Amino acid sequence: MRDLINEIYQSISSFKVDNPATLEQFRIKFLGSKSEIKNLFGELKNVPNDQKKEVGKLLNDLRIHAESTFQDLKNTFESTTENKNKIDFSRPGEFNQVGSHHPISTVKNEIIEIFNRIGYTVSEGPEIEDDWHNFSALNFPPEHPARDMQDTFFVEKGEKEMALRTHTSSVQVRVMENTTPPIRTISPGRVYRNEAISARAHCFFHQVEGLYIDKNVSFADLKQTLLYFAQEMFGEKAQIRMRPSYFPFTEPSAEVDVSCTICNSKGCNVCKYTGWLEILGCGMVDPNVLEASGIDSTVYTGFAFGMGIERITQLKFKVNDLRMYSENDIRFLKQFTPNL
Ligand code: PHE
Repeated sequence: MRDLINEIYQSISSFKVDNPATLEQFRIKFLGSKSEIKNLFGELKNVPNDQKKEVGKLLNDLRIHAESTFQDLKNTFESTTENKNKIDFSRPGEFNQVGSHHPISTVKNEIIEIFNRIGYTVSEGPEIEDDWHNFSALNFPPEHPARDMQDTFFVEKGEKEMALRTHTSSVQVRVMENTTPPIRTISPGRVYRNEAISARAHCFFHQVEGLYIDKNVSFADLKQTLLYFAQEMFGEKAQIRMRPSYFPFTEPSAEVDVSCTICNSKGCNVCKYTGWLEILGCGMVDPNVLEASGIDSTVYTGFAFGMGIERITQLKFKVNDLRMYSENDIRFLKQFTPNL
């Protein structure tokens, strides 16, 4: 009986199945109701009692071997034949969900690229600043009312009172302290102001500020640089105009409007029927600011400008509520997924 079990075991292993008919033959031969294995189970009663246990186990192993071999053959057989016929070549491919850049990042990168093309490097600095870099070095004397223009969040850092930077002009002070002119740099980054959150104001937003310092830099250079920027950003028909303004760190100072690209300056509710949209502040760097950072103001002059990225993004993508930028609403963000 042991020899017979062995023999059947071998023939199960070597049985060739290559079509549904031979698979069925396998099933009848080894698993069917009249199979040799079934017969052997019937004969178990004739085995001497002292060997029953051992032979029974051998028989059981044989049955398991037959069943698992059948299952394996069936699986490989089905995956190579039947499944092949199941492939539907007309079915559209499955889409990978791709993420998207946040519109603020997209516009920030575009601004950086525009200024890179005319030789500006990018500089970054800390978001928690000391009074010197955010205010004093920028010609805000202590108790000067201009400090109130930018409602500041103050934080304690050890003994020192620090502030969340209210503009990235602080980075430019750091650059001026560490570099001998010529300097041509932009500083993008997040800034904080203590404002009530609404559609038009937020307690944090993003800026790109620019600084150019060299010998003989003039207001005409500033104007031309900003016109170049406006036309690269909003199209070659864009025009700019300057209105006098005030910042402690620039003199003279101006606010810059770009012609409304939404209505072609005809007047619409975005430009409040003026044909112009305010986009940035700028001016010639005040000599006090140059001196505070160790730059000789009798040799060098410079200009600076600063813009809010949200504002530019609002004009480019017509987003009319500032809060959308930081709510992480997937329906908003999905609109900026690139078309593939
Ligand atoms: N720092 C100013 C602000 O945050 C912008 C500005 C930068 C104005 C440079 C003039 C020159 O509003």
